[in-house]
Amino acid sequence: MSIAEKFASMEYGPAPEDSKEAIAWLERHGYRFQHFIGGGWQAPAAGEFFDTVDPSNGEKLASVAQGSAADIDAAVKAARAASPLWRALTPHARARYLYAIARLVQKHSRLLAVLETMDNGKPIRESRDIDIPLVARHFYYHAGWAQLLEQEFSEYLPCGVVGQIIPWNFPLLMLAWKIAPALATGNTVVLKPAEFTPLTALAFAGICQEAGLPAGVVNIVTGDGSTGETLVRHPDVDKIAFTGSTEAGRAIRTATATSHKRLSLELGGKSPFIVFEDADLDSTVEGLVDGIWLNQGQVCCAGSRLLMQESIAEALIAKVQDRMSTLRVGAPLDKAIDIGAIVGKVQLDRIRKLVDQGVADGATCWQPQVTLPARGFYYPPTLLSNVHPTSIVAQQEIFGPVLAAMTFRTPAEAVELANNTAYGLAACVWSESLNVALHVAAQIKAGVVWVNCTNLFDASCGFGGYRESGYGREGGREGLLEYMEPAWFKNAPALPIEKTVAIPEDGAAGKPDSDALAIDRTVKLYIAGKQARPDSGYSMEVRAADGRLLGEAPLGNRKDIRNAVEAARKATAWAKTTAHNRAQVLYYCAENLSQRRAEIAHRLADVVGEKQAAAEVERSIERIFSYAAWADKFDGAVHNPPFRNIAIAMNEAIGTVGIICPREAPLLGFLSLVMPALAVGNTVIAVASEAYPLITSDLYQLFDTSDLPGGAVNIVTGYSSQLLKTLAEHDDVDAVWCFGDEASAAAAKAMSVGNLKQVWTNEGRAIDWFNPRVAEGRWFLEHATQVKNIWVPYGE
Ligand code: NAI
Repeated sequence: MSIAEKFASMEYGPAPEDSKEAIAWLERHGYRFQHFIGGGWQAPAAGEFFDTVDPSNGEKLASVAQGSAADIDAAVKAARAASPLWRALTPHARARYLYAIARLVQKHSRLLAVLETMDNGKPIRESRDIDIPLVARHFYYHAGWAQLLEQEFSEYLPCGVVGQIIPWNFPLLMLAWKIAPALATGNTVVLKPAEFTPLTALAFAGICQEAGLPAGVVNIVTGDGSTGETLVRHPDVDKIAFTGSTEAGRAIRTATATSHKRLSLELGGKSPFIVFEDADLDSTVEGLVDGIWLNQGQVCCAGSRLLMQESIAEALIAKVQDRMSTLRVGAPLDKAIDIGAIVGKVQLDRIRKLVDQGVADGATCWQPQVTLPARGFYYPPTLLSNVHPTSIVAQQEIFGPVLAAMTFRTPAEAVELANNTAYGLAACVWSESLNVALHVAAQIKAGVVWVNCTNLFDASCGFGGYRESGYGREGGREGLLEYMEPAWFKNAPALPIEKTVAIPEDGAAGKPDSDALAIDRTVKLYIAGKQARPDSGYSMEVRAADGRLLGEAPLGNRKDIRNAVEAARKATAWAKTTAHNRAQVLYYCAENLSQRRAEIAHRLADVVGEKQAAAEVERSIERIFSYAAWADKFDGAVHNPPFRNIAIAMNEAIGTVGIICPREAPLLGFLSLVMPALAVGNTVIAVASEAYPLITSDLYQLFDTSDLPGGAVNIVTGYSSQLLKTLAEHDDVDAVWCFGDEASAAAAKAMSVGNLKQVWTNEGRAIDWFNPRVAEGRWFLEHATQVKNIWVPYGE
């Protein structure tokens, strides 16, 4: 073709990135990789290897070791052995290692980018300009945190040995998101890369060697899901951090329930991309290209649901189709390619199947005229319109270059559609009106909301989900907390195991509940701001320390819990009221408790003795005051990522929280948990101390006289373990806090796997509720909130 002809057609010629360096690296390793354990390469104990393939042509790139239980064990042992030394280093010394790693990532950026593209199939433009620079940024940022650790987190300890399992869509970036904060906080690591994309993790092992990182601080064991499962189950791992499918997340959650392993899960998404009629449509279309066609759509936060205001839908679809026609699909090492290869054949088949199902459900499928390469795994950019909100393609993560489009009329409808999924990872809102955009952003249940921008990431801004997109954050200050625990909590003694009582089914073996019984006190349940009789009609006896009958408390059952959840769900006024108003109500609670301190202490003394009763009441007044003070001070942050954006990190309430209150300290324990939840705007269903449920009547009198809106707190009494089950299984409960013995902590985790609700327990450890240094403050408030980052373009 002559220059004149080229000029006329403006067609791209091939512009392949040179893969020489990556091939030389593969050659140096003989195209065969062992595990990286204890600072060196170690052959797999079972001698098994598997192939990793270049998805752009289906050809084998290298053999990689298949990790067995023995390999995982060796890696965990190496990480454990390295732990004391790594921890004992000064923060500055750790910072220098992280800084050295960041420098080396930059030095080897070309090798890493090419290798990533060869192993994953993503366009070189993306691995070169997005993935690898973000990897370096992550290590630099966390080198900074390592340096500041003692000043900023003096009362925290690292978890210890952490097991990390990552997916294939951003292989090295996910490694950086996991390893950088873990090392910065003094943990040692065993990481398992995804079986599709192990190569850059192995190259990273080389970087660890080059940086002189002490042996065993980072260990990399390759393998498939079974290797991951072995790591998850290993008894000497203190924390698991996982990114991947919701299905695998659920399996991991179940597998860790009976252990004390901390867990963070970054799972799937079905993120809405909302376009209002006043949006700048040309910018919106460019945003959409990044939103759904970045990395072939294999992005957990991909803007895969296009929600368009009806008035502009037609115009927008036309622009999107025009733009789709210019997207170039092909060999990912070509620098002028927009859409590369899908990671593997299974994933390609999965995409095809889901699109077919969407069309069968009534969607219209549109694809531009593109010629796909004859070899390799490719899928064209795809637009599904007329998608019904309940269709599989509107609900399930496709993880491919497929956009599902729907329309809405009003902002309220947009929010409803946006939240109409089980996920809650990210969202985009496009509107030239900041009022509209921020009003909508506030109502979307997602960990990240991009206003007039999309798929921006930075180490300083926490990333993570709401609801079934998982919990825990990566990046930012909040990301560090996932890798540490308060020192006092780590070392707290275990609570004695509670005697198991034979629990009558729904109270059937309880006593008939009767106001006419000749004892001085019967209490009721407290639901929707009113006293309520239990559904079962039965009650349980409550006895003093000396065995005297003190009164009766209702035996709540699952119906009572359901009523309480419904009341809590409806109490939206509490969540929406201002922080100032919440503070006022809590101050009022404290005042009212103060006025009734003598009578409450007198009653409580029957169970806990006079001394504790007096102390509980006094401390309780202080505790409520403390959370009234916090209510308007637990602020978020404003981050300054290195783009023309600010990211507003909001501490949002989780929603409806079910709380199993501790047996010990019936008043103080209850308030120590319920008050922080309320202070930040959650609504609560609390199960009062099983040892002294009569405290409920004192509490509801307190709430009734303090202007707390009905339903903000609901109190159910009965057998905690039975009520826990209903709370944990209830899909309308967003978090369960369970403070009891070890068995109840395990039960809370295991039972709440269904909708992956957040679970917080005391791990069966004793908490000194009387000591404000451990039993109140930020640690509690952090569990009562989740961070939402709202990215807003800012300045020139
Ligand atoms: P996956 O969740 O099975 O794999 C992710 C990682 O977890 C891999 O390292 C895998 O070896 C490991 N793994 C799998 N099962 C495990 C288990 N039971 N215990 C411990 N580790 C385990 O994802 P897969 O099968 O590769 O992709 C399937 C779908 O998952 C995709 O189509 C996509 O919808 C979703 N996905 C979501 C990702 C995200 O970032 N949210 C990333 C990857 C996949």
